[in-house]
Amino acid sequence: MSGTTNTIKHLGSPLARQTLLDKTLTRPVAGHRPIRILPWLQVVKIGGRSIMDRGPEAILPVVAELRKLLPEHRLLILTGAGIRARHVYSVGLDLGLPSGSLAPLAASEAGQNGHILAALLASEGVSYVEHPTIANQLAIHLTAARAVVGSAFPPYHHHEFPDSRIPMHRADTGAFLLADALGAAGLTIVEDVDGIYTTDPNGPDCALARLLPEINAADLAKLPGTLPVDRVLPEVMANARHIRRVQIVNGLMPERITAALRGEHVGTIIHTNATSSA
Ligand SMILES: Nc1ncnc2c1ncn2[C@@H]1O[C@H](COP(=O)(O)OP(=O)(O)OP(=O)(O)O)[C@@H](O)[C@H]1O
Ligand SMILES: [Mg+2]
Repeated sequence: MSGTTNTIKHLGSPLARQTLLDKTLTRPVAGHRPIRILPWLQVVKIGGRSIMDRGPEAILPVVAELRKLLPEHRLLILTGAGIRARHVYSVGLDLGLPSGSLAPLAASEAGQNGHILAALLASEGVSYVEHPTIANQLAIHLTAARAVVGSAFPPYHHHEFPDSRIPMHRADTGAFLLADALGAAGLTIVEDVDGIYTTDPNGPDCALARLLPEINAADLAKLPGTLPVDRVLPEVMANARHIRRVQIVNGLMPERITAALRGEHVGTIIHTNATSSA
């Protein structure tokens, strides 16, 4: 036994003997920009409430546009949860369920929307895949097909932060985290409004609503009132590593999805200031 000791290769680990909390110590090891796993991927998040809940009138033109995009781009299409999740939140909240119980219920609604969308694109070889498949086998699926569909909801599930009773990490956050982790070429969020306004363009102060053609994540975090994206999204964007900008577009004008993926400015662009620092 002792004879083998000399042949064992010992790997030095600069993080082995130190706290992971001191950035001056971790930066030399963890301070580099991570690799882009799928740099050619375009991620498109389709709104649950804004598109899917509207039924065929809104969904079919979006599906036709996505179909046209397939020869040009390889897509990860992610769906939001929509009205059924709002219903499940209100039933669950009435019963006193914590956010960690509500999150997986809402996530399953986002998945249902994904199954619907995938069925409509199945003739193009597109299928719905679950999160573990996105995590481990997305590359092979995208070699076999030009696009796959998944749930935009992040699988925090029972680990959802208890900051608020309604799960804070929802579909926009999930889509952004995936796009950034994959080092995707872009993320487009599809809504039923032209972008982010100073106030809800469908709300009581709609006469005052002014479209913001672009905004940075820090200013978006400070914008008072409601947003068409998760409130926590700008905070998550502050730690982006790859995705420098996200465009919010109106899917009721589906040609804007194609324009956005071609790099045109057709909605609100959120700048994330992605950096490589740890
Ligand atoms: N500041 C704002 N600018 C633009 N739209 C806003 C703003 N505040 C609220 N909204 C509203 O947000 C609506 C979109 O709702 P929401 O973002 O919940 O839908 P969704 O993204 O389709 O849902 P999901 O997150 O389930 O996918 C728009 O129709 C608009 O009325
Ligand atoms: Mg939205």
